[in-house]
Amino acid sequence: MTFPKDFAWGAATAAFQIEGATTADGRGESIWDRFAHTPGKVHNGDTGEPACEHYYRWREDLDLISSLGLRAYRFSISWPRIQPDGRGPANRKGLDFYRSLLEGLRERGISPLVTLYHWDLPQVLEDEGGWAARDTAERFAEYAELVFDGLGDLVEDWTTHNEPWVTAFLGYAFGTKAPGSADWARAIPASHHVLLSHGLVVRAFREAGRPGRIGVTLNLTVARPGRDRDDDRAAAQRLDGHFNRWFLDPIFRGSYPADMLEHYERKVGPFDAVCDGDLETIAQPLDFLGVNFYHPNVVLAHDDGSVLGIRDMQLDGDTTGMGWPVVPEALTELLVRVKRDYGDLPLLITENGAAFDDRVNGADVVEDPRRVAYIEGHLDAVEDAIAAGVDVRGYYVWSLLDNFEWEHGYSQRFGIVYVDFETQRRIPKRSALWYRNRITAATEGAA
Ligand code: FCB
Repeated sequence: MTFPKDFAWGAATAAFQIEGATTADGRGESIWDRFAHTPGKVHNGDTGEPACEHYYRWREDLDLISSLGLRAYRFSISWPRIQPDGRGPANRKGLDFYRSLLEGLRERGISPLVTLYHWDLPQVLEDEGGWAARDTAERFAEYAELVFDGLGDLVEDWTTHNEPWVTAFLGYAFGTKAPGSADWARAIPASHHVLLSHGLVVRAFREAGRPGRIGVTLNLTVARPGRDRDDDRAAAQRLDGHFNRWFLDPIFRGSYPADMLEHYERKVGPFDAVCDGDLETIAQPLDFLGVNFYHPNVVLAHDDGSVLGIRDMQLDGDTTGMGWPVVPEALTELLVRVKRDYGDLPLLITENGAAFDDRVNGADVVEDPRRVAYIEGHLDAVEDAIAAGVDVRGYYVWSLLDNFEWEHGYSQRFGIVYVDFETQRRIPKRSALWYRNRITAATEGAA
């Protein structure tokens, strides 16, 4: 048995994906409300309503978490519930919701891991430039202080951002996610401001002597060349730079990767968002790194004039509902690499999971053997990384519940618990029951 005794066996969610209640108790509009209500942006015209109505059903959901034997729960705070206008004092009712939730977790002995930002920027701040504007980093630091003051007595583990790459590049360069801007000249400064905001928050957290641990969650990939060719190797290197090193290097080394600086300056223009001292701010020591991993990327050079000049190669073999390849051993490779290149800090797998076209059969059973295989394979990969000396402290399956999967709306089911969005009934899938047994076996056998 390799998993340590106090390993965080968990599941993850995000505010906008499960809460619903998008106008309740003074919540302001977020960029995801605006994006989802813009025709053509989200599959089927789906929006953040009703999602899982978790804002009203949270007690039932906490009981569910308990009944599945989970020890840890990762969720995010909705910024527009705390600051409907992106600035100013905290909305008491917003904080109260999360206090009740955290108290409920405490009563049930489940450890929270709280994400401050999982993509729901107050729309007001987007109107003022969003993450492309430096001021948004300051606003984020102000919001974080309100959350620490309001909830800090109930939380030990914080992450600042979920997947800065998505915020900056899917939000501002590719435009597939909110706010839907397709402009690299905004995306590159946005990436810097997200990183800066992370650093500002961690620094303030330390300076205030707040108790607890703080880190960040990055989505990382293993980038492989599709063919044995120099241009494909360069493409893989570029993807690694764009996706992994552009975030890991500033956080852990205090510098942006030179190859990508050169590449972006050539393709996009001068990178003048960085001010004196920013990189020192970004490179605050962290208590842990959260890693979200779904699949590796095999890439081909693709000289189409685009900024990255790469194309994903379709692989033979198993894929998920998202079309993502299932390659669990890549997770071991990734974790070993993070330790080798960025140092031996505690790692948490803050997301890993798969969407499939799940169906309820007449007996209220959801058979999802492919999800079981996916999770099992990736847990084995984590175990291999631990055996190779990587300090992995937890695993949070994505996701607890089927939910609003961003631009895919309700069409992609990632939950280990099935949600009937018409009736809001929850049905644990076979994978949830399997996971419960896996946790029991691991914790009973742990040293
Ligand atoms: C991650 C997101 C999470 C969910 C999964 C499938 O990128 O953090 O909210 O959408 O992908």
